[in-house]
Amino acid sequence: MKPASIKDYRELARRRLPPMFFEYIDGGAYAEVTLKRNVEDFETIALRQRVMRDMSQVDLTIESLGQTWTMPVGLAPVGMAGMYARRGEVQANRAAAAAGVPFCLSTVGVCSVEEVAKAVAPPWFQLYMLKDRGYMRALLERAKAAGCPVLVFTVDLPVPGSRYRDVRSGFTGAAGLSGTTNTAWQGMTHLAWSWDVMLHGGPHTLGNVQDAIPQGRRVNDFLGWIARNFDRSVTWKDMEFVREVWDGPIVIKGVLDPEDARDAVRAGAQGLVVSNHGGRQLDAVKSSITALPPIVEAVGTDLEVYLDGGVRSGLDVLKAMALGAKGCFIGRPWAYALGAGGESMVSRMLGVLRSELTTAMILTGCSDLRRAGKALLDT
Ligand SMILES: Cc1cc2nc3c(=O)[nH]c(=O)nc-3n(C[C@H](O)[C@H](O)[C@H](O)COP(=O)(O)O)c2cc1C
Repeated sequence: MKPASIKDYRELARRRLPPMFFEYIDGGAYAEVTLKRNVEDFETIALRQRVMRDMSQVDLTIESLGQTWTMPVGLAPVGMAGMYARRGEVQANRAAAAAGVPFCLSTVGVCSVEEVAKAVAPPWFQLYMLKDRGYMRALLERAKAAGCPVLVFTVDLPVPGSRYRDVRSGFTGAAGLSGTTNTAWQGMTHLAWSWDVMLHGGPHTLGNVQDAIPQGRRVNDFLGWIARNFDRSVTWKDMEFVREVWDGPIVIKGVLDPEDARDAVRAGAQGLVVSNHGGRQLDAVKSSITALPPIVEAVGTDLEVYLDGGVRSGLDVLKAMALGAKGCFIGRPWAYALGAGGESMVSRMLGVLRSELTTAMILTGCSDLRRAGKALLDT
């Protein structure tokens, strides 16, 4: 199948990846109510068609946090991308750099920040608040030394939400003989993936945290370490610690409430991502796109307000811009494309979004995203 839409990349990933990785990417927390809302609430927004306006020049670029983005779409941090394709974080960063958009490396990437930065432009770096502040400090210093321009500080995961699909697929839980048999069986029945990732994609560790547990050998050891190290006691006061170590721009990721957005401004952040972690944390919260307008109203002139969650086309990007987002991040869309076929698929998928956004701008009479606003919507 030649992929035409994000749904098609999802289908290709479903065919190529072992179920435990596909379900990990595709799934959300609990009954997946928020996961569905993220997508469905975009669908209810109507764009306003305008005709007979000179659309020979259309400008998709934005300037944000000191960088020029060739379109307002960045690659959100996605854990373990190196298990979806060989050295997956490097491949995805290459595709993002070629497209002229930011790539954000997850704390729990397979490739380390040094490996990703050395292969191509330094990525944005995402960090969770860990109990082990000494280790956090060292990680921040590594990211700084690798040249990462922006720190994304994820605040909506003091504890991981339960994801039923990961239990059923064997991604979490089943250890011992049945777990090993299940993993081996999934590999044997997905040979193209096994050849690419298992045979040629090692080492299969989490590169940013591997020296925290030198005795650990398997990805599961690292995930266990991370889970034990999420810090539930974290408050805005801890931002002082982050500020002390990181002097570049900080983006707070995982804000849904205008009050929290105001706190992010007070804590000195340069940006925030309106996000519910792609419906992977607290199920039943509202969608990102419905959370966006009140947050823009509260803090939109104080810092960069980005959105992630449910963006599945260039039309969705335009809708988010119309409601006041500075830019969007995508998680699953690039993870699907990477799982479908590595860097070239991520590049093609970004091309699809760019072309959809261009068409949507032309048909709504919007030649410049800097002037995007509610007038683009049929309300
Ligand atoms: C497989 C997967 C892994 C993720 N890992 C991380 C992570 O390590 N750190 C983080 O801040 N967010 C993580 N996220 C959340 C994304 O950064 C982003 O918020 C979310 O995917 C956006 O929703 P979307 O998938 O609908 O685009 C992950 C999301 C997925 C799908």
